[in-house]
Amino acid sequence: MKIANALIFGGSALVISLLGGCKAGGENPGLEYAPQMYHSIAYEPLSQIKDESQGGWLSTREDGKGEYYNSNENNPHGMNMREPVANTVPRNKQGYLPYRLKAFELEQAALIKNPVKSSDPILKDGEVLYLQYCNACHGKGGEGDGKAGEVIGGVANLKGGAYVNLPEGQIFHVITKGKGRMGAHGSQIPEESRWKIVHYVKQVIQGQATAAAPAAEVDSTTVAQVTPAN
Ligand code: HEC
Repeated sequence: MKIANALIFGGSALVISLLGGCKAGGENPGLEYAPQMYHSIAYEPLSQIKDESQGGWLSTREDGKGEYYNSNENNPHGMNMREPVANTVPRNKQGYLPYRLKAFELEQAALIKNPVKSSDPILKDGEVLYLQYCNACHGKGGEGDGKAGEVIGGVANLKGGAYVNLPEGQIFHVITKGKGRMGAHGSQIPEESRWKIVHYVKQVIQGQATAAAPAAEVDSTTVAQVTPAN
């Protein structure tokens, strides 16, 4: 019995001290079981590690090469990054082409149709966004009587005069690039949200039903294509 007890005691003391050794704290990361995962060597986009022995001390690779070796002869120019396919233009997640119109190209912008299909939830989103980004100047009802608007003055009354009939593409463009005394909001509001605001302005503030966003994306594509980037 005594021997068994001593074994159990000694055994548990050993296990406890072993586990204690794994304890991390302060600068000590503890025992790491898969250091390759914690300290993986990032692929640098513009270069490759061509030395096959790099990271050999750590390696468990089946091809016997060093863990850090990451050269791939199929990628040209000694880079991990692949170049974009020639003569192509990347679309964003919503499928939109890059918006390339310049601030002064209002006439072309006016031709663009809203690619976001209108619905009650979209109008609701538009309202929230309008209150966040436009209300301070244009006021709740869009009459240019927001608190900040009163101070800076000259804020467009979205319900008055020629503003009522502004094409939706132009409203989008003005939000994106700004106009006159209004600053650009393109860097602060994502593209889809800007189009939601346009729906809200057109339908709720200006009380106009817009055509049910048909082949709209084609229109914006056409405009984007006739306007080369530079
Ligand atoms: C800092 C104040 C301010 C904010 C914020 C602001 N605007 Fe304006 N907005 C103005 C002023 C000032 C004008 C008049 C610009 C001019 O013609 O000089 C204007 C003009 C406009 C016009 C008329 C454009 C035209 O073609 O003449 C529209 C449409 C418009 N704003 C929509 C918006 C929307 C939508 C938002 C929210 C995303 C917004 N604005 C946010 C101050 C603001």
